[in-house]
Amino acid sequence: MPQYTVKTSSQEYVALVERECVGRAAHWLPTRHSQVFVVTTPDVWDLHRPSLDAALREKRHAVLFFPGGEKNKRLSAVEALCEQMTEAGGDRASVVLAFGGGIVGDVAGFAAASFMRGIPVIQVPTTLLAQVDAATGGKTGVNLVNGKNLVGAFHQPLAVLVDPDLLNTLPQREFVAGLYEVIKYGVIRTPWLFELLESQRDAVLARDPSTVDTLIAESVRIKAEVVSADEKEGGLRRILNFGHTLGHALEAETGYTRLLHGEAVGFGMIAAALLAQRMEMLPDTECQRIVRIVNAYGPVPSLAGVTPEALLARLVSDKKTLHGNVHFVLPTRIGEVLVRHGLPQEAIHWATQQALLQTAQSA
Ligand SMILES: NC(=O)c1ccc[n+]([C@@H]2O[C@H](COP(=O)([O-])OP(=O)(O)OC[C@H]3O[C@@H](n4cnc5c(N)ncnc54)[C@H](O)[C@@H]3O)[C@@H](O)[C@H]2O)c1
Ligand SMILES: [Zn+2]
Repeated sequence: MPQYTVKTSSQEYVALVERECVGRAAHWLPTRHSQVFVVTTPDVWDLHRPSLDAALREKRHAVLFFPGGEKNKRLSAVEALCEQMTEAGGDRASVVLAFGGGIVGDVAGFAAASFMRGIPVIQVPTTLLAQVDAATGGKTGVNLVNGKNLVGAFHQPLAVLVDPDLLNTLPQREFVAGLYEVIKYGVIRTPWLFELLESQRDAVLARDPSTVDTLIAESVRIKAEVVSADEKEGGLRRILNFGHTLGHALEAETGYTRLLHGEAVGFGMIAAALLAQRMEMLPDTECQRIVRIVNAYGPVPSLAGVTPEALLARLVSDKKTLHGNVHFVLPTRIGEVLVRHGLPQEAIHWATQQALLQTAQSA
């Protein structure tokens, strides 16, 4: 099974995609370490305890629970984890193993980045979204009242262990939310991945193992490549934000409760495709393929009551707004995107309105 190397200024590490690789987690620990802190949520631990227990049975380890959920992704959770680590004798030679979805990865990763000014973390993602996106790349952090991920650190992991078997227990809605990020990788980088998602929809939704493995591996490959080229998002890494400009606005506007992150990105990709078409950067046929595929894996939950005006107002406060400029990642064909800013307000409004209509029609 494939493994990809992520090379950044601070760390070179492997992102491994292999069924049952959790069982060999101990192999990735540094030779000199004192103990392992497994950070997880009670639901994931109940479902997947045996695989990790077996992997760490000869290692000194403790399991620390985090309640999960976006509303608990706060500095107080990081503090609580760090307090528990000191109480359990944690020191600079301790290692964190993040075992859960993207929220666990972000919180445990930030705790590892901060504890004793930084201890290593191994990411073992258990949702499709975290496997294809969040776990690789070193972004960690928590939310503030005023917005998501506003406090955090770059803290590259020691290794990322992606075990697609862990997804067997994932609810279908969460699985589909992760698939939207896979669609994103197809649009920004890999036409064959997009075509596979088009032609194998039923197999993908039925979680055919070899198809799922292919989707995950290609996504992780792209993420590793992009992060290696641009760790801190000064340039190329921004392409990963395709669908995220209006996606984030929609998440904020709906209070982070109505939609899953991936679903909001699905909406954002439709809007970005329509915007690219409007700017005459993307042929109509290609735009329609993007709209069709998002809806084919959808529909995203009802967006009734959401207005273009409200979403446009949210754009200004987004982290992707630099010096007052809203950035959009726009496709020029399947497999290629450009980052653009300073687009006409009228075009953004039109694309947002159309996207709201086109997702409503499919719902
Ligand atoms: N750091 C990054 O680069 C990055 C990138 C994308 C997203 N994120 C962050 O990731 C978070 C979203 O992550 P998510 O979508 O994984 O959500 P999540 O972490 O909330 O997990 C979704 C739900 O599934 C449960 N779950 C996890 N694994 C399971 C399994 N194998 N079987 C059954 N249930 C399981 C979780 O307990 C949770 O209830 C957001 O906070 C987002 O900001 C970070
Ligand atoms: Zn995302």
